[in-house]
Amino acid sequence: MMAELSETYSTDFPLEEQIEWWKAIVSSIHDGVLVIDHQGIVRFINPEYTQITGVTPDIIGKRLKDYRPGAQLPETLIDRKFRVGVYRKTSNREYIVDMAPIIVNEKVIGAVSVCKSMTEVHKLSQELKKKGEKLEQLQKKMNSLYQAKYTFKQIIGRNGGLKEAVYVAERVAESDLPILITGESGTGKELFAQAIHNESGRKNKPFIPVNCAAIPSSLLESELFGHGDGAFTNAKKGGKVGLFEIANNGTLFLDEIGDMSYDLQAKLLRVLQERKIRRVGETIERSINVRIIAATHRDLQQLVNKNRFREDLLYRLNVIRLQIPSLRERKEDIPDLVDSLLHSAAMNILLDHSSNVYTVDRQTLKFLQAYKWPGNVRELKNVIDYASCMAEGTEIHIEHLPELLRNKQIQLMDAAESPSDQTLQEAMEEAERTFIQNTLKRFGTDIEGKKKAAKALGISLATLYNKIKRYRIDF
Ligand SMILES: Nc1ncnc2c1ncn2[C@@H]1O[C@H](COP(=O)(O)OP(=O)(O)O)[C@@H](O)[C@H]1O
Ligand SMILES: [Mg+2]
Repeated sequence: MMAELSETYSTDFPLEEQIEWWKAIVSSIHDGVLVIDHQGIVRFINPEYTQITGVTPDIIGKRLKDYRPGAQLPETLIDRKFRVGVYRKTSNREYIVDMAPIIVNEKVIGAVSVCKSMTEVHKLSQELKKKGEKLEQLQKKMNSLYQAKYTFKQIIGRNGGLKEAVYVAERVAESDLPILITGESGTGKELFAQAIHNESGRKNKPFIPVNCAAIPSSLLESELFGHGDGAFTNAKKGGKVGLFEIANNGTLFLDEIGDMSYDLQAKLLRVLQERKIRRVGETIERSINVRIIAATHRDLQQLVNKNRFREDLLYRLNVIRLQIPSLRERKEDIPDLVDSLLHSAAMNILLDHSSNVYTVDRQTLKFLQAYKWPGNVRELKNVIDYASCMAEGTEIHIEHLPELLRNKQIQLMDAAESPSDQTLQEAMEEAERTFIQNTLKRFGTDIEGKKKAAKALGISLATLYNKIKRYRIDF
């Protein structure tokens, strides 16, 4: 409507035809249209205008002000201003009006008013509201997806090293300082990170774990920082929000940070210092407020010495360091852990929330305490889950433990490793004896049975005979 008429008209069109053509166009518009000339006289209305406002075509040729004293359109002729979204109400009709002057050769030759009925506006706003609600739902869903489940209460252990880590973690949870958690795989690094997040003011915001070792380094940057439209081949159209932005106001848990590429380490350090990120392929910077908790099972100082980890980043992360002891360094915690894991197993397998719980016999517990647990608590949890499934009732005996574990344990039985620990040695021998006895029970005690048993145990028939003699196993 604002375009200069002379520009939009094509010259090889007879004028009358052109006028008819424009009228037809305006009549077919879904919005109501009313046009006045420079004197404020109504020159045109379309059928939709009548529909929405109730004003009939006999208004044409009359001064709009006489007909509708409240009309603002004539003012547009004077102040040349656009008016957008003006609300109008007459008796039982409600609608929204946009108004604009019509300017030709810099002179105001008239003004146009375009209106939409409120039902239409209502419909649109309703739709908007629905979309808004949907967005809110998605937001909530996202938050619950990225929620941390563990709290400090769920960290089991009385061991001194573990207690100290919990003590420090509880103290620093509230702050925004970065934290570095070190410890072998399965020791509970992520458990600690979640507990810290849940103890902080960020607990209702996202907790986002990222395994830096699992994502190829070429992709990790755009995963973390996001990327602009067409930043690289295969980049998602319309760009992509990165995990830093998703974690905004929450916590980003960078697991296996020792595996992050050297280049990306520099970018991470920059984020820690400036609290700003830049999406890949974009120049604008976005402010973010994210708490970083990093974890690794590697010796970062050693990586620094090999020029594989940035010293400046290590200093930045190392301010608060939680060292989680391995399970074999805190064997005193095994009974409590086993207890708790048996409870969870009962919930999952027996679906029983009452007192009906699995138990392990003393000998099996000793066996579990003697084992080295290279996979730490994660491995212990897997073993307990497995044994709970294998148990016929709710009593877990040594033969219900995974065979691999039992075999490994026997290989590990090296008296030199714990020369003074007589009871441990005894426990292991007892375990081996029962284990062999049970295997024999399973396969039978005739020659064929013994052959099979030896095979299952991964030892020679001769060794089996020796052990039967040594342990005085009778049938
Ligand atoms: N001290 C602990 N008390 C209870 N459960 C633990 C403890 N440490 C670890 N776990 C459990 O062991 C498993 C592995 O822990 P996780 O935090 O993923 O280890 P990491 O990140 O060090 O590899 C999880 O199921 C976790 O709940
Ligand atoms: Mg982990």
